[in-house]
Amino acid sequence: MCGIIAYSGHRPSVPVIVEGLKRLEYRGYDSAGLAFALSGQIHLYRASGKLEVLEEKLASETIIHATSGIGHTRWATHGLPNEQNAHPHLDPTRKLALVHNGIIENFQKLREKLIKQGHEFQSETDTEVLVHLIARGLQKTSSFPEAISWALSQVEGSYAFALICKDHPGKIWAARQSSPLLLGVGTGENFVASDIPAFLQYTKEVVFLEDGELVEMDASSWQVYSIKTLKPVTKKVQHIAWDVQAAQKGGFKHFMLKEIFEQPRVIRDCLAGRLDRKDERVLLAELDDLPVPGRLHIVACGTSYHAGLWAKYLFEKWAHIPVEVEIASEFRYRHLILNPDELVLAISQSGETADTLAGIRLARGKGIKVVGLCNVVGSTVARESDRVIYTQAGPEISVASTKAMCSQLVLLYLLTLYWGQRQRVLPHDVLSRSIHGFSSLPDILETELPRLREKAASLSQEYARARSFFFLGRGINYPLAMEGALKLKEISYIHAEGYAAGEMKHGPIALIEPAFPTFALALNDELLPKVKSNLKEVEARGGKIIALTHPRTDLKVTHPWEIPLLWGPLNSFMVLPALQLFAYEMAVYLGKDVDQPRNLAKSVTVE
Ligand code: M6R
Repeated sequence: MCGIIAYSGHRPSVPVIVEGLKRLEYRGYDSAGLAFALSGQIHLYRASGKLEVLEEKLASETIIHATSGIGHTRWATHGLPNEQNAHPHLDPTRKLALVHNGIIENFQKLREKLIKQGHEFQSETDTEVLVHLIARGLQKTSSFPEAISWALSQVEGSYAFALICKDHPGKIWAARQSSPLLLGVGTGENFVASDIPAFLQYTKEVVFLEDGELVEMDASSWQVYSIKTLKPVTKKVQHIAWDVQAAQKGGFKHFMLKEIFEQPRVIRDCLAGRLDRKDERVLLAELDDLPVPGRLHIVACGTSYHAGLWAKYLFEKWAHIPVEVEIASEFRYRHLILNPDELVLAISQSGETADTLAGIRLARGKGIKVVGLCNVVGSTVARESDRVIYTQAGPEISVASTKAMCSQLVLLYLLTLYWGQRQRVLPHDVLSRSIHGFSSLPDILETELPRLREKAASLSQEYARARSFFFLGRGINYPLAMEGALKLKEISYIHAEGYAAGEMKHGPIALIEPAFPTFALALNDELLPKVKSNLKEVEARGGKIIALTHPRTDLKVTHPWEIPLLWGPLNSFMVLPALQLFAYEMAVYLGKDVDQPRNLAKSVTVE
């Protein structure tokens, strides 16, 4: 949720930290701040609102000579998003400064205890309690790892934090428990951050910290310790192949638009090395030693959940595997009855979503194997799953997930073919048509994307004044309709519901009137006649209809939107960007902040 960066090196640290925060701003953006130790004191800069407000503040400063420091961009959990609650937070003597991501669940109890001991607090945050506790620890010992370990032994909840001290400029301490944190290892400089893009332009060498680990670093050295035992931990430095370009806008007005247009490349990358075209086989070597599951539980949130719902139709039809798709925040609190031959498939772009992680831990605790489908190499989902399949979307920066879903659909499709083959139930023509269809899909999509955008832009002029929308679909298009609705509400703030078209007559149709439009997925498949009847019912109540459809479906609606006909579920790869572009153009027309919609954060690392 919040973004953390800490730097120690040879460069002026403030620009490095601000640059890092810009790349982390998608994680939260209701306030920002930074601090550094210089000339025996902590210098603190904080501002409510977006990062640019902090930048304005910093612009009026004379040259700052610091070469280390910590920065934070916040997504409020405790306390209003104002300057007082912005990070970094200080201890009572202004000796320490700390930035934190996560939630200290017992902070109220700890705060009351500290108040009784004479502590005064400046903010309403749980974070301030943490830095006060560490300061108390330093009254007992001069060793920072020891003081931190002592403080953390009293803390319940999740955290990733970075700490500096006025007496040790250049030194940084950081630790994690259930919130992401990693170390960037450079030459004569080191970084700590919540996500790779924060330091990608300086180094691609990364150390992934595990829960319960603490790092002490300066410009030229770093050492990881166990928080509990304070024993040194040996860590592996991993090379990350992401390129810096991919984490920048590359000429597009918004990250979201750039990421939508990257989908042909994403499909190519996801397929690379996965299809044996000669022997007509799907290769997923990661899973070769796992039995085909007797039942699959897909656990995910938001867009990833919609990808799971979409895949259910495929798994059941072509791999003959029964599937339950669960919202992770519900899954984790159910009384689950899981059998040993079942499997949990956890889908997460970020690999850090708290509810999905809890689902993984729950399943593994019950002895059930977990396969993670995720986009971020080395993320917690990747590390905590028994097996991981990486989607190849590259860094997704816009809060609205687009290309990541595309990559999930490709891998879920391949997984269906793979298990279908292993079960010997996959019709051969399905395999050859899929392989053939996937080969031409990226090129077709590349040609079509500009046209889709044009149509979406013209529709946005017509529909941007609507207050509510229905998105309707049947079969495999129903989850896509849900995704279309999520995209629209998330970035344009227009209320939208994704419904199974056949369910309308059981209540929702009461809402239809001329000012309540419907976006229908009326593709040329076996369910088209049914969808057509449902749309007649909407029309009869005066509802306007946009229908994404294929040539020659003879659909008479307010705004038909024809897309090229592909084979079977491959059509979803054309429907998805159309829905994404419609939401995008609506939000742009309404002047909304597309990449950083209000109240949201890219990676939801709290419950
Ligand atoms: O990183 P994850 O895939 O686990 O994230 C899950 C959801 O938070 C995410 O898909 C969210 O719904 C997006 N903002 C949707 O665009």
